[in-house]
Amino acid sequence: MEKELIDFLYLICIILFIVGLKRLSHPDSAKKGNMIAGIGMGLAIVITMFYPMENESNNYAWIFGGLIIGGTIGYIAAKKIKMTKMPEMVSLFNGLGGACSMLIAAVEFYNLPEGTPMMSTQVLTIIFALFVGSIAFTGSIVAWGKLDGFLRDSLVLPAPQIINLGMLIVVLGLSAYIMFLPEMNFTLVLVLLGLSMVYGVTFVTPIGGGDMPVVISLLNSFTGIAAAGAGLIYGNQVMIVGGIIVGAAGTILTVLMCNAMNRSLFNVVIGGFSGSGKSSGSGREEVVKEASHGDTAIQLKYSNRVLIVPGYGLAVAQAQHVCHDLEKALENEGVDVKYAIHPVAGRMPGHMNVLLAEADVPYPKLLELEEANEQMPNTDMVLVIGANDVVNPSAKNDPGSPIYGMPILDVELAGTVIVLKRSMRPGYAGIQNPLFFGEKTKMLFGDAKDSLSKLKTEVGNA
Ligand code: TAP
Repeated sequence: MEKELIDFLYLICIILFIVGLKRLSHPDSAKKGNMIAGIGMGLAIVITMFYPMENESNNYAWIFGGLIIGGTIGYIAAKKIKMTKMPEMVSLFNGLGGACSMLIAAVEFYNLPEGTPMMSTQVLTIIFALFVGSIAFTGSIVAWGKLDGFLRDSLVLPAPQIINLGMLIVVLGLSAYIMFLPEMNFTLVLVLLGLSMVYGVTFVTPIGGGDMPVVISLLNSFTGIAAAGAGLIYGNQVMIVGGIIVGAAGTILTVLMCNAMNRSLFNVVIGGFSGSGKSSGSGREEVVKEASHGDTAIQLKYSNRVLIVPGYGLAVAQAQHVCHDLEKALENEGVDVKYAIHPVAGRMPGHMNVLLAEADVPYPKLLELEEANEQMPNTDMVLVIGANDVVNPSAKNDPGSPIYGMPILDVELAGTVIVLKRSMRPGYAGIQNPLFFGEKTKMLFGDAKDSLSKLKTEVGNA
């Protein structure tokens, strides 16, 4: 195929990516946006098969073999995965993107023609893709482990900041050394690759608890940047633009997450932040009041304004549909019901928005953190459904808490708080929540789906 025609078709792919991304910004159009971007990616892969190459090597068996095996695994994984395991899968796939860029860079180093000057933009680009791709790969694997729970936050390195800074200096120093060599030394390149992979692990390992959302979006942007680097190696426009789009989107998300968590990006890059972990305790008398379904339903029915705070437990219970049913039942009784969405509720950015959109909850009913907090004093009842860290007042009151400084939903400003969860077990950050012992709080123990359907029935009967 003519190079000009390929470039023109690549331009169409790029337009499809951008249109798809634009549509992803609203739940109503997100599904179509995903499809459009997917078509763009499929087209880009097909067109690349016809890319004129300098050395015509017949690698089609490898290419199609990889496509079939990878495509089949991806298809089965996407079909079989439970919605609650989605964040883990996204993290794992993100890591594989980084691994691709890392391997491309390693292969390109290996294939560098003899006599290629090491002090060149070409070598710099390859080192860049290798370094960023390796961090994205191993960092995402650690993030996957932390989200899945098989890697514990208690797994800490001694003096993580010093280790990370030291590793960064060694990796950058070795990169510079390789570029100053008179000729390529592939053994040193492999050492660089190994050290970069270790840096990815030491970078993410100390980060945990409430800080994970920031590192997940940062790793996302790393994968995009590494892919753009790999695109630069080949001079492939669609790869460069695709990588830049992912890298830019990930960077914007990182900044938003930093703001949401009240963290500075510098601390994230150095790694290992958050409070000392030595909580001063709630200081309250630790007595929990239990609510009944009947009483809660009556109280809900006679409220003017109700705010629902969804959290990770809503996703675990798959209670989004019955939650929407309860909301409609209350609205039929003249109650104004809205949802208060914390930016890091759940386990991935926009988790609650996606979950509620799946249940057809109208988007205008979703209030962002600031708006929800403004409405809190005028709210009669708050239903906290499977949320914990995002309503934990220690984030405001306890400087020793690992989530200290994170903005929270100030549910204690409302008239009454009912918390739906199964036990007194902590949430993701692994810390107790003084809200549960608060004067205005009552606990409604049980699986969220079960409790919500009972509440819905009781609202109908009351
Ligand atoms: P969490 O603090 O994790 O609390 C979830 C609560 O849901 C748990 O305390 C659990 O208590 C309850 N739960 C679980 N299954 C349930 C079920 N079937 N029915 C009823 N309740 C159930 O959730 P959150 O408030 O949404 O906060 C999110 C946390 O995850 C934050 O710390 C955040 O930093 C972190 N994080 C977020 C992200 C992103 S990007 N959103 C990524 C990584 C980490 P029981 O076991 O007692 O039921």
